Amino acid sequence: MLDPAPYNSRRVVSNQTGPHERLPEVVQKHLTSVYQAPILSHNIDAFEQAEALAQQHGGPLILDSGCGTGDSSRKLATLFPDHFVMGIDKSADRLGRERAGGTASNVHLIRADLNDFYRLATQAGWQLARHYILYPNPWPKSAHLQRRWHGSPVFPDMLKLGGKLELRTNWQIYAQEFHAALQIAGVNAQQELYAPNGTYLTLFERKYAESGQTLWRVTAHSMT
Ligand SMILES: C[S@@+](CC[C@H](N)C(=O)[O-])C[C@H]1O[C@@H](n2cnc3c(N)ncnc32)[C@H](O)[C@@H]1O
Repeated sequence: MLDPAPYNSRRVVSNQTGPHERLPEVVQKHLTSVYQAPILSHNIDAFEQAEALAQQHGGPLILDSGCGTGDSSRKLATLFPDHFVMGIDKSADRLGRERAGGTASNVHLIRADLNDFYRLATQAGWQLARHYILYPNPWPKSAHLQRRWHGSPVFPDMLKLGGKLELRTNWQIYAQEFHAALQIAGVNAQQELYAPNGTYLTLFERKYAESGQTLWRVTAHSMT
């Protein structure tokens, strides 16, 4: 049988050549105002289910935000067997894709929009042990800054959830902006190259790495 074709994933193309010039102003605005968009009822239902599951397990909580097919959630559940891993994604299609190998008892995938879920979780006083945001949609057009997590009005709620935060991306500008936004929020963070060395947490990570793309990681260990 022929080897499967190697991945040939396209690099992010953007009209930005560096961090967005309005980033500090946008982040500051969100840090000093309250995000008031209404929370949709199906996200409230999803959050209530999540809260019941977290309480039932009782262990430290890991959030895998934008988990897609949940491969990373399942791997994290194996890496942290005494933690409860919750993978959240808004796409029923991605969450529903069949995966071989069964599912550990300490992982659950939930369909919800994180713009609502983060606010519900902070209102309920959640404190995470770890928080992964792996290969978020880059929204590379300059006009789309506020669709990136650090440019979004929900960014302050994401930070209030605490825990060891780790974001990975194949777009250096996303990593630079996320790092800068954390610093504006008073969170000590590190930005570095990330080399998976053949061990992949997600399918996107594998596709990007095997296409020869450079990967970046931003970590923060002391959230305010
Ligand atoms: C590029 S994919 C990465 C998926 C996975 N983390 C990986 O690395 O394979 C981004 C994922 O984030 C999800 N997503 C984007 N915005 C979201 C939101 N507001 N709430 C929940 N999920 C979201 C998308 O549905 C998609 O599955």
